[in-house]
Amino acid sequence: MTDRTATPRSFAASVPLSGRIAIPGDKSISHRSLMLTALAVGESRVTGLLEGHDVLATAAAMRAMGATIERRDDGEWRIHGVGVGGLLQPRQALDMGNSGTSTRLLMGLVASHPITATFVGDASLSGRPMGRVIDPLAQMGADIGASPGGRLPLMVRGLAPAIPISYRPPVASAQVKSAVLLAGLNTPGITEVIEPVPTRDHSERMLRGFGADLTVETDTSGIRRIRIVGEAELKPQTIIVPGDPSSAAFFIVAALIVPGSDVTITNVGLNPTRAGLIEVLRQMGGDIELIDPREVGGEPVADLRVRHSALKGVDVDPAIAPSMIDEFPILFVAAALAGGRTVTTGLDELRVKESDRLAVMATGLTAIGARVTETEDGLVIDGTGGDPLPGGAGIAGHLDHRICMSFAVAGLVSRSPVTIDDMAPVATSFPNFEALLGELQS
Ligand code: S3P
Repeated sequence: MTDRTATPRSFAASVPLSGRIAIPGDKSISHRSLMLTALAVGESRVTGLLEGHDVLATAAAMRAMGATIERRDDGEWRIHGVGVGGLLQPRQALDMGNSGTSTRLLMGLVASHPITATFVGDASLSGRPMGRVIDPLAQMGADIGASPGGRLPLMVRGLAPAIPISYRPPVASAQVKSAVLLAGLNTPGITEVIEPVPTRDHSERMLRGFGADLTVETDTSGIRRIRIVGEAELKPQTIIVPGDPSSAAFFIVAALIVPGSDVTITNVGLNPTRAGLIEVLRQMGGDIELIDPREVGGEPVADLRVRHSALKGVDVDPAIAPSMIDEFPILFVAAALAGGRTVTTGLDELRVKESDRLAVMATGLTAIGARVTETEDGLVIDGTGGDPLPGGAGIAGHLDHRICMSFAVAGLVSRSPVTIDDMAPVATSFPNFEALLGELQS
């Protein structure tokens, strides 16, 4: 995954986008599907799994720890789990590639099993902070030796039985919450996470669906207490993974800003803890219609019809950030085409994603002629009011799939092509991104 040549690509002013596409499965749900089925006793089936590099890294790791995971020719995945408490000692380091979710959630699983695992990853992942999961997992008794700054490579020596804790994460993070809950699965007693700001709740929904004794209590001030009773037995499941709203986001914004566009995206997950972008784009005047809202695999989904719209700038309420945390790069592109000023604040977490997304977006958007000011915790963007951007610059993607796709979309509304130095990282979350774009242009 790490030794390869770069794949540069240019994206130029586009014809109107039109047609109907289905986007790949949700990345968060795909990771959790593999982890939980690998811990259930018996055979589970998963359809719609995202077959991106990040999720394949999770599959390889669960195999290395004893699960049988196979993909059938029809695209269905069959998993035979080892049972909670049954993870085996991996013989080699677990290569997490670019995937923060794999790393942090699997560290949680290993922490309460009597095994030791080494985690390694690419240059982007190796620069990301792991202290946020090391702290609670060490409280539970795991012995974790990390590289300086609490980074990868690192080694987790699990403790079984581990010690149940009540933990209030200092940052709003579904990954930290999930790491503690997954460690709690094989820990005697009750493990609790106290969440002042709600983050994506796929772990809670799925753990309950698999038969774990998990409760969520929300008090009057909105604080959530999530409790899991440990030494759980998980039952095998049949899972249908809904389409990833974070991948749909690139085509939602592309359809809104490329003049004349009219695009339908089918089967998009609309879990309220993930749907913030749609709310903000609607505030900006975006024409996004929800068609046939329904439930797939315990998650709300709908088809989205999106038409080109005259967007206007808005002040984005920082309280909405956790429900669109991965969508800010593409929102910044929408803001660069809107009329007036968009102000975002409270986005410190964007600095520790696959890249420093505030700095990288500010630099890239400025290079293609947008008017952007970077603040400590956000961007202020004065849009063109619908006029194309000048474009004509090269963009460094910094091994960050969402940066690459955001600038690809910006290229579609630029006078001169925008060249991205390496589009290969897109395969971590959205392997057929360019193919789907081609379909909408033909
Ligand atoms: C994820 C949680 C988010 C998100 C990431 C996936 C998950 O990270 O950015 O892409 O699946 O739990 P944080 O929890 O660190 O915000």
